[in-house]
Amino acid sequence: MTVRTKVGIVGAGPAGLLLGHLLNLEGVDNVIVEARSRDYVENRIRAGLMEQFATDLLREAGVGARMDREGLVHEGIVLRFGGTSHRIPLTELTGKRVTIYGQHEVVKDLIAARLEAGGQILFEASDVSVHDFEGGTPSIRFRHDGRDHVLDCDFIAGCDGFHGICRPSLPEDHLSAFDRVYPFGWLGILAAVAPSNDELIYASHENGFALATMRSPTVSRLYLQCAPDEDAGAWSDGRIWDELQTRLTDDSGFVLNRGPVLQKGVTAMRSHVVEPMRCGRLFLLGDAAHIVPPTGAKGMNLAFADVRVLSRALAAWYRKGETKGLETYSDIALRRIWKAERFSWWMTTLMHNFDTHSPFERRMQLAELDYLTSSPAAATTLAENYVGLPFT
Ligand code: FAD
Ligand code: DHB
Repeated sequence: MTVRTKVGIVGAGPAGLLLGHLLNLEGVDNVIVEARSRDYVENRIRAGLMEQFATDLLREAGVGARMDREGLVHEGIVLRFGGTSHRIPLTELTGKRVTIYGQHEVVKDLIAARLEAGGQILFEASDVSVHDFEGGTPSIRFRHDGRDHVLDCDFIAGCDGFHGICRPSLPEDHLSAFDRVYPFGWLGILAAVAPSNDELIYASHENGFALATMRSPTVSRLYLQCAPDEDAGAWSDGRIWDELQTRLTDDSGFVLNRGPVLQKGVTAMRSHVVEPMRCGRLFLLGDAAHIVPPTGAKGMNLAFADVRVLSRALAAWYRKGETKGLETYSDIALRRIWKAERFSWWMTTLMHNFDTHSPFERRMQLAELDYLTSSPAAATTLAENYVGLPFT
């Protein structure tokens, strides 16, 4: 079966869903093709922290009501090292706030908005492939409901994440890739217990990094630095809580609330960018084009930033035939991406233990943490990156 649309979107993660929604608001027809089921994408626990521009964007697009009711607004974070706690007052330093609202909740809100508006998402599509995007007649082919389909479109948006098919479909000599793999991962848990602190705690400890974050007033999210190939099954709940308590302890007698572990898993950490993010009529967005280690919480925010740039460029093309936005998409998106890559790499390097580090390098980490938490200028540098740099 052959169908025609203006923009064919591969992937119903945060990038594909928000792009589809913003294009619909501009009257630009689009179809989203997703490999997984609706249930799977709505329950995949991943990001949790949104920059102010991202919450503003969802609100302006009419999909912020539940986020405004249920999201937790934060005005500071805590850095913990050497047994002491230091607050970075994000809002005092930058005027901006960040919001804790789970990525899977954003995905639920965007799917609900699309279906309510009569839009379609083709879940559980298989054998998805992209064609003829270097010429003028791009198409997406896939199987759905036991039948082969061809989706003819003007443009293809590759929003299919790091393991998707769009990036590998580009001619090999078209892309330059930049990569760093870190020698550790994160063991993450979701637990049915109230957060132990109102604000996020980032801890640098001799045993390794730990992060205490949350999803709601009754659900905590916690992470521990571990080996990149760590077997999560080898960690009993008791061992996880004990290790979190050790790494998060400070001189105020901090005690972590413990509760039933609902989910656990290991995430490997890497930095990865491809340039350019366009090949003819195919555009790459979000994790399909770039990955950051999670330490600075930039992944989903960067995906939304790409969507903001491309949705405006496509709207201008359909409204006025303007090509400038499409031509500059990759350069504009990459300027923000490289700064977020730098911040995520820096924060990861600052907070984690490296087997290769000598005692001198550990002293350098502690000196930098001391500087960050005692100099308003240094704290502002961290804060303005953490809350999200302005769009240029
Ligand atoms: P994805 O979410 O990966 O979506 C891609 C979609 O494409 C998926 O639904 C996938 O099923 C689909 N797909 C794949 N292949 C195909 C195919 N062949 N055909 C059709 N569909 C396909 N980011 C933050 O901003 N803040 C945080 O606090 C944060 N914390 C994180 C914590 C962890 C533990 C992890 C793992 C990540 C975290 N991130 C965070 C990163 C964030 O989750 C990602 O950057 C974000 O999901 C990227 O969105 P995306 O839409 O580009 O890609
Ligand atoms: C979360 C994850 C992060 O990597 C981070 O830096 C902050 C928050 C989270 O899952 O809530």
